[in-house]
Amino acid sequence: MKLYQLSDAGFPGLTLAEQDVPQPGNGQVLVRMRAASLNYRDLMIAKGTSNGLVPLSDGVGEVESVGDGVTRVKRGDRVAGIFYQDWIDGPMKEADFASGLGGGAVNGTLAQYRLFDAERLVTIPDHLSWAEAATLPCAGVTAWNALLGLQPGQTVLTLGTGGVSIYALQFAVAMGASVIATSSSTHKEERLIKLGAKATINYREREDWGQVVREMTGGVGVDRVVEVGGGGTLANSFTATRQCGEVDLIGVLTGGPVNTIPVLMKALVLRGIQVGSRAMFEAMNAFIAAHRLHPVVDRVFAFADATEAYEYQMSGQHFGKVVIDIA
Ligand SMILES: NC(=O)c1ccc[n+]([C@@H]2O[C@H](COP(=O)([O-])OP(=O)(O)OC[C@H]3O[C@@H](n4cnc5c(N)ncnc54)[C@H](OP(=O)(O)O)[C@@H]3O)[C@@H](O)[C@H]2O)c1
Repeated sequence: MKLYQLSDAGFPGLTLAEQDVPQPGNGQVLVRMRAASLNYRDLMIAKGTSNGLVPLSDGVGEVESVGDGVTRVKRGDRVAGIFYQDWIDGPMKEADFASGLGGGAVNGTLAQYRLFDAERLVTIPDHLSWAEAATLPCAGVTAWNALLGLQPGQTVLTLGTGGVSIYALQFAVAMGASVIATSSSTHKEERLIKLGAKATINYREREDWGQVVREMTGGVGVDRVVEVGGGGTLANSFTATRQCGEVDLIGVLTGGPVNTIPVLMKALVLRGIQVGSRAMFEAMNAFIAAHRLHPVVDRVFAFADATEAYEYQMSGQHFGKVVIDIA
């Protein structure tokens, strides 16, 4: 089997390697991987020191064989690994953090075969292609988690057109919410409207986009912000949120000091998000199947062109998700 490993040789430092296909032991499942997808996190990991690590958290494939005692899946099932391999249900535990696929000491999905514990897999919706399903584990589950409890008729603000934000737009629209979305590109704004955004704002042209959101909502502000920006966007996000509204803090695309006074003055809920559990992944898949949603795949790269896929994700040109086909 072929697989990629990270090295210190520049960015992303992908090295193609060959290994024997492993055999599943007790409770394990051998998955023939079909597609993987990139997240912003994978760029940060590739820039760090992760020598020998198989990269990427997100991947899907077909069950090739199962070890003794496995009843959860069977040969031929279409499956995805869960992002935090140890987080099955309930609130996240501190120890779960170290189990993120494709980071720390946990090998990821950019390989033709991978062994998983049966408990750490979910089956994927039948109507999704391999490429679409490969985008579910991180961006999809994160957006799902950030929108937990959203009610029809509520208002949501999404920032930019990356993987998490486009999922959040799709979920929020399907839940009956009204979405305002930002982007730095006029062309991408048009695509946001086609996906169901009620209004868009170019955050490069309107640096006061938080105030613009308030005006668009009759001076009230949105119920919820899916906050992928971090330090450089939080001030505007606080301005954009209604009194007692919720800011779901997900990302670190920007940096800078944050004034927390608006959180107090507006009695905001500031909720940190860490992807999600297996239970959330399963609930999201049921929702995606029921609503026949299709994740937005921007581009699919061949396995041999994995480096180009990283460079493309890094360029920020994408709208939605960048995928690698593992033929
Ligand atoms: N906490 C978690 O569990 C978790 C999970 C997933 C992701 N994240 C984080 O969430 C962030 C987004 O991840 P992703 O994988 O969705 O990223 P991505 O696909 O790489 O998204 C990049 C997009 O973000 C937008 N963007 C960049 N700077 C922006 C700014 N100043 N204001 C608004 N939008 C901006 C751009 O959209 P336009 O081109 O439209 O301007 C850009 O194309 C990252 O920081 C990532 O680390 C965290």
